[in-house]
Amino acid sequence: MKLIELENVSKSFGRYKALDNINLSLDNGEVLGFIGPNGSGKTTTLRIILGMLKSKGSARVFGMDAWKDAVSIHRNLSYVPGDVNLWPNMTGGEVIDLFLRIKDSREKKYRDDLMEEFELDPRKKCRTYSKGNRQKVALIAALCSDVDLYIFDEPTSGLDPLMESIFQKQVKKLKNQGKSILLSSHILTEVESLCDSISIIKYGKIIESGKLNDIKHLNTSNFIIETQKPVIKLLTPVKNISIIGNRLELSVDKENIGLLINELNSYNIKSIESKSQTLEELFMSHYR
Ligand SMILES: Nc1ncnc2c1ncn2[C@@H]1O[C@H](COP(=O)(O)OP(=O)(O)OP(=O)(O)O)[C@@H](O)[C@H]1O
Ligand SMILES: [Mg+2]
Repeated sequence: MKLIELENVSKSFGRYKALDNINLSLDNGEVLGFIGPNGSGKTTTLRIILGMLKSKGSARVFGMDAWKDAVSIHRNLSYVPGDVNLWPNMTGGEVIDLFLRIKDSREKKYRDDLMEEFELDPRKKCRTYSKGNRQKVALIAALCSDVDLYIFDEPTSGLDPLMESIFQKQVKKLKNQGKSILLSSHILTEVESLCDSISIIKYGKIIESGKLNDIKHLNTSNFIIETQKPVIKLLTPVKNISIIGNRLELSVDKENIGLLINELNSYNIKSIESKSQTLEELFMSHYR
């Protein structure tokens, strides 16, 4: 069963179409990275999944209707929003415990270990926490709950690099426990290291989705090639080419690799090194 399944979901705010017929699905045990520039519709999509916004089309979570069955769905789901707002007069520890009473949660030791790892002082009032510390409170509460589905909306935007790596470690742990995760993020290296699949959204439309490995290798390959004779000009269509002496770096569409090698043969190839495309390169190529 799909844990999340959006089919032809659209959402307008007045005359502004924030989401235009999007499809998104999350399999059991999968980590899905949801990426796109500011204002592309990520948070709106997550809020539909969470039953906080009504939409056109079909939005199902655990096979149930995201809007009508939100109460049942939420019993088995944890969510961390991008901007965490907490009750100002409660301490971080009290907020975490409150969340843990609402959901099925792990033992107290799990919570204490997380607080130690994230270096959170649970005795402070929430109004005195910095942005990063508010985010930690929400993350710890979510990570302590023992549910099937975790939804994170830019969870590391306020965290320093050390805390970011602790978050990543925790996500990997959830994944090893067979949990399913939907992670919206601007940090592409984070998505690359954590996610099995990705969906890229642009102006409210999904423009790319699938298994991360398939997608990255789908379009282009990058090569560093050394030849014996200097290359002056190539006839094969290539991109991002730089030639320094007998060394060239370039990207080429998969279908043109054969052509390129044939052409370079006349320059006597000394070595070929291939680099796979990074998610960042893929992302940038969509947004340029
Ligand atoms: N309640 C609302 N009323 C009117 N417009 C809205 C509302 N919520 C979102 N929008 C608009 O919908 C679009 C998508 O917003 P959304 O918050 O989903 O983007 P996002 O991808 O999460 O961006 P970011 O990366 O900055 O968090 C934006 O243009 C935003 O202004
Ligand atoms: Mg957002």
